[in-house]
Amino acid sequence: MIETGRIVIAGAGLGALYAALELAPRPVLVISPESLGEGASSAWAQGGVAAAMASHDTPEAHAADTLQAGAGTVDPEVAAMVTRVAREHIIDLTELGTPFDRDADGNYVMSREAAHSAARVVRVKGDQAGDQIMQTLIAAVRAATSVQVLENTQAVRLETEGSTVTGIWITRADEPSAPVLVKAPGVLLAGGGSGGLFAHTTNPPRIRGQVIGFAARAGARIADPEFVQFHPTAFDIGEDPAPLATEALRGEGAVLINVDGERFMIPAHPDAELAPRDIVARAIFAETQAGRRPLLDTREALGAEVLTRFPTVAETCARAGIDPVVQPIPVAVAAHYHMGGVEADLHGRTNLANLWVCGEASSTGLHGANRLASNGLLEALVYARNAARDIAALNLAADTAKVLPVFSAGGQELAPVAVQSLREVMTAHAGVRRTAAGLKQALATIARLEDEQAEDENFLNMCATATLIAAAALKREESRGGHFRDDFPESDPAQARRTRITLEEALAIRAKAAKELT
Ligand code: SIN
Repeated sequence: MIETGRIVIAGAGLGALYAALELAPRPVLVISPESLGEGASSAWAQGGVAAAMASHDTPEAHAADTLQAGAGTVDPEVAAMVTRVAREHIIDLTELGTPFDRDADGNYVMSREAAHSAARVVRVKGDQAGDQIMQTLIAAVRAATSVQVLENTQAVRLETEGSTVTGIWITRADEPSAPVLVKAPGVLLAGGGSGGLFAHTTNPPRIRGQVIGFAARAGARIADPEFVQFHPTAFDIGEDPAPLATEALRGEGAVLINVDGERFMIPAHPDAELAPRDIVARAIFAETQAGRRPLLDTREALGAEVLTRFPTVAETCARAGIDPVVQPIPVAVAAHYHMGGVEADLHGRTNLANLWVCGEASSTGLHGANRLASNGLLEALVYARNAARDIAALNLAADTAKVLPVFSAGGQELAPVAVQSLREVMTAHAGVRRTAAGLKQALATIARLEDEQAEDENFLNMCATATLIAAAALKREESRGGHFRDDFPESDPAQARRTRITLEEALAIRAKAAKELT
């Protein structure tokens, strides 16, 4: 056991690094499963950060779009707060050195994305916002003497006394090892979402709901776990994870066609390709299921400019042997963002004392049932700062001694077959379209896999989050935003509220479902 005065931050994406900088000079320990910048979802974000920066735009309009996209379950107070402070975060990131795209007059260049009433997404080099913001934050973190980063290390369990978090158990991330307890005055969870629990995902391979899972196992209350966002336009080129073809392409006029050349979004929604993400995702899914291969066609809208204005997309096309100047891009739906997570108040506090959360691991009430594009990075910034300011009020000791864990042999290697089975069953039964029968099947399979791998704590964390998603999806007998039930295809106004659930409650639903199947 190691005792430290440092605040421990579990995760190393945008929220984690931004919070570490905000906490400076207070000493912080960042637990990073890989080398800084690798494997974090934030670095893969292409679109950018939504913020009302243009003179004709307002935070109120941004909040209204957020509420509208969220399908009746966004917390209006949260939407108002986040959209109001968005501008100051963009300015702070700019001052830190983020090279946001600017026009000749120095104004931010804004992209348009689905369900925004204005072009409102600040971007970097077209489609490289996540990577460039991360590079800026990494440089600042490397220069901050208050921040210690433990690379190739992952968190697997919280230590609690009653409902107070007193520390965190960590292991090596690159090979099995026995966990080491780090006792700390506070823990900030910033370790990403759950997309990788699905077989088709845009998330980096390590992002599989582990943080939400270990928080739930320690008694953290979870909100809205059934709300998973599926991105309509992941490249369908046989890669796992599936690379993203950013929505900003559609903002620039790219259209969706099927193999017969039909623009199937025109009859589906008045905003066609720029309809809310859940609607476009279900339309793409329907085309795929019907064998009419959906394609993203940038040819007329962008021509050869796609190669220079969207370099990440161009690089993926080149790898797949697609020339987007003359060929449309094959696309499919992929799990992209988890609106649900550890419930957080306006300060990022959870129901457990000394435990805070920000970013995709959290559920703040901003996204409701369907996140508005590019509100994800924004939420991570806002709550990282809010949580850091709340933590700073703790009057922490100025302990700067480094944490130097010595890992001994132990633990268990993650079983790839079990992980893949979990991912397949989540995509098959807890994916774009759900039914009671399928969700029960998913819950029974998760229970079996969990029994088979009961010694592997990392896998148990994944199973905890998968259980929460499927159990809450079974309980919500209606369709709303990213949650679509074939057996309850309409929204029910009486259910227009957020879900709050504990792992204990989800396990009870799972046990009942498994019993009904036998
Ligand atoms: C995209 O660029 O399409 C994704 C942006 C987001 O998920 O917010």
